[in-house]
This record gives sequence, C-alpha cells and structure tokens, in this order.
Amino acid sequence: MKIVTIVGARPQFIKAEAVSRAIRECNEKKDRIHEILVHTGQHYDYPMDKVFFEELELPRPDYHLGVGSGSHGRQTGIMLERIEAVLQKERPQVVVVYGDTNSTLAGALAAAKLRIPIAHVEAGLRSYKPAMPEEINRLLTDHVSTLLFSPTDQAVRNLVKEGIRNGTTRIVKNVGDVMYDSILYYSTVAEKESRILHDLNLFDPQSAFRNPQYYLATLHRAENTDDPNRLKSIFRALNKIGEKTPVILPLHPRTKKMMKVHRLLFTFKNVKFIRPVSYLNMLLLEKHAKAILTDSGGVQKEAYWFGVPCVTLREETEWVETVRGGWNVLAGASVKRIVKAVSQTKGRRRCLKGNKIFGEGKAGQKIVRILTRHFG
Ligand code: UD1
Ligand code: UDP
Repeated sequence: MKIVTIVGARPQFIKAEAVSRAIRECNEKKDRIHEILVHTGQHYDYPMDKVFFEELELPRPDYHLGVGSGSHGRQTGIMLERIEAVLQKERPQVVVVYGDTNSTLAGALAAAKLRIPIAHVEAGLRSYKPAMPEEINRLLTDHVSTLLFSPTDQAVRNLVKEGIRNGTTRIVKNVGDVMYDSILYYSTVAEKESRILHDLNLFDPQSAFRNPQYYLATLHRAENTDDPNRLKSIFRALNKIGEKTPVILPLHPRTKKMMKVHRLLFTFKNVKFIRPVSYLNMLLLEKHAKAILTDSGGVQKEAYWFGVPCVTLREETEWVETVRGGWNVLAGASVKRIVKAVSQTKGRRRCLKGNKIFGEGKAGQKIVRILTRHFG
C-alpha cells in the first residue's frame, strides 16, 4: 500500500510521528506500507521545524515544497498546486492529513480533485466559530474525507450532526488521540534527556524537594495575536502573574511578529520569553509547571494528560472534555478572569490513571490497522 502523508506545521510533525511509528512497527512484521512524507514548508524556522525531525522518530520528508508564509489564499493556493504535482507523480492509494492548518486543507483539496481517498486524522473537532481559520480548514477537510479518524466520541457526534457517519461510503471511527500516543511514548524520554529546567534555572532553592516553581504560557492563535487589545490584555495578565512566580513563554514567531508591530516587545518584564522549544523540552516544562496558560489546542490536551491545571486564553475550546470537571478553565483575554483563574488553580494537580476519554495511546496503531484493512 502506498500512502502520502502531508505535514507542514509544528503540531503536525508530532501527530504524524505517532502514525509513522505505527507504520514502521507494522512493516517490521511484514513490509506492507510505503509512506511518502510531504512537508509543505508552512513552518520553517529551526525551532518550529527541523528540531522535531531531529528529535522525533520521523522520517525525512521525501518532498519539501518550500511554500513558507503568506496570506491564507496565497499560501493554500501554492500548496495546492505543488501537492497536486506530487500526487500526480506518486499516485498513492490514500492521502493522510492531520488537524486543521492550511497544509491540511491544501492536502485534502489536492487529493479530492484527483479523486484520491483522504484520511483525516483529528476529524470532527469544532469550535462553532466560523471566523476561525482552523474551523474553515477542518470543516472542509472533513466533508471531502473518506476515512475520518476522530480522537473522541464528542468529535464523532459532531460529524454525525453534519451528516457524516460510518457506513458504506465512509469510515468514521473514534481511534483516540494520536498526541496521547506521543506523550506516553516521549514523556519518560523527556525526563531523561531534557536539561531545560536546569538551563532555565527553574528549581526553587527553598524547596526541600527542589520542585520547579513556574507557570508555562503559550500564545499564537490569530484571534489573540492579531487583535492588539486582546494581545495587550493577555500580556498584562501574564505580567501580573509573573510578579510572584516566573512565567515562561516560548514565543511563537507569529506572536513575536505581532508584538513587534504593536511595539510590545520588551514591555512585560515579568514574563520570561524564550525561543520555541523542542518537543522533549516542552513536555518537561508542561509536566512540572504549577499551571499552564495557553490558546494552543495541543497544549491544552497535554496539560490535561499531565494533570496540570490549564487556563485557556480563549472564549471557547474544541477540547470540551478537558473543561468538564473544571480542570481546564476558559478565561478569554480579560486580565481579571485570567488572574482569578490562575489563583484558583493552586494545589490542583491530579492523577489521570484510568481515564480513557482520549483513548489508550494506541491511536496510531488503530489508524494503520484500518488503513491496511481498507487499502492493503
Ligand atoms: C498555524 C496554523 C494553526 C496552528 C499553528 C501551530 C493555519 C491557518 N494556522 O498557525 O492552526 O495552530 O500553525 O503552530 O494553518 N512564521 C515564522 N516562521 C515560521 C513559521 C511562521 O516566522 O517557521 C511567522 C510568519 O510571519 C507567518 C506567521 O508566523 O506569517 C504565521 O505563520 P502561519 O504558518 O501562517 O500560521 P501560524 O500562526 O503558525
Ligand atoms: N510545542 C513545542 N514547543 C513549543 C510549543 C509547543 O514542542 O515551544 C508542542 C506542544 O507540546 C504540542 C504542539 O507543539 O505538542 C502544539 O502545537 P501548537 O501550539 O503550535 O499548535 P496547536 O496545537 O494549537 O495547533
């Protein structure tokens, strides 16, 4: 069986790794799957791109399309043209796309026009906020896909509401979350290999157990970065929280760009800005944080899996399961709400053993099994 995998943005390297690993495991028994990896080049800075190929067990891309940044239409359009050329040459039985970025939509559209079946990993997620670029990407991708691999029951229900259900023409399955596979596989590796807590001097010398004492924050959603009022308000909140306890923020290039535009760089002295970190470093930073503040989808889930309280800097989330029970709190961009939400997280860590909402960490294997059954 020949499959083409399309990736391009940071979270897709992590998601695709889980499936690639399962493909390799499957091939060890019997060489059955030929995966061709296509990198659109949507993310290209070393800490947003190459570091993941060096650190994770991901194959090198067979095609690098070098698309880079641009407006939505231009970026997606160039990807569409270049992906089409690859698919015409390779003629795979299926194209696998991940998540909801412009690389996802371009991959899905290129395959749909060539009548090649599409497998969408992380199908069925919805924010019900039509203005969000990711909502457009995931909605369109789901509607042209043949195999819809959802991470939760809720995601399957969202698809059913739109008339997309398991049947003779489509496979719709809750396989669990591929990012959960990755966190289970890499978190012990991170404990052994990452030096980030020492490098950033995050141990409290007063603590008998030398526990790290810091908050971790990430911010990159367009709705926050492109609205100067929201951006300023979130940073004011982080700066206030940072008066007492360090706030570490690996800065996404989009946010850095917008902070420059609005002259906000160097304004918030209590926030420790660092370059985007590698996956292993990120896992360690997440695992030992007092709480995480984020607008990232992946980071909300990782906070949940580590049992670390999360304050989401958005008005809604696709990951509604994490909000149930109050473990993830939606605080938007208001200083008051964010500061209050963080103050309420004190001492709230928990153990998540036995919780199967996002599967058992075998999503990659399930996806590969279904693909081989269908196309093998
Ligand atoms: C993209 C995805 C978003 C995902 C995020 C993961 C879309 C529409 N958005 O957002 O869903 O959550 O990736 O991180 O696909 N830039 C650099 N270097 C890079 C990459 C980007 O400097 O390596 C800068 C450029 O100025 C670029 C901006 O960041 O214009 C935004 O990059 P882009 O890939 O368009 O969107 P993200 O905000 O990264
Ligand atoms: N991540 C990382 N380094 C960072 C920030 C995030 O490795 O500096 C990882 C994070 O652990 C998660 C993924 O990137 O696995 C989330 O990607 P991102 O926040 O860019 O996108 P989203 O999940 O919101 O689409």
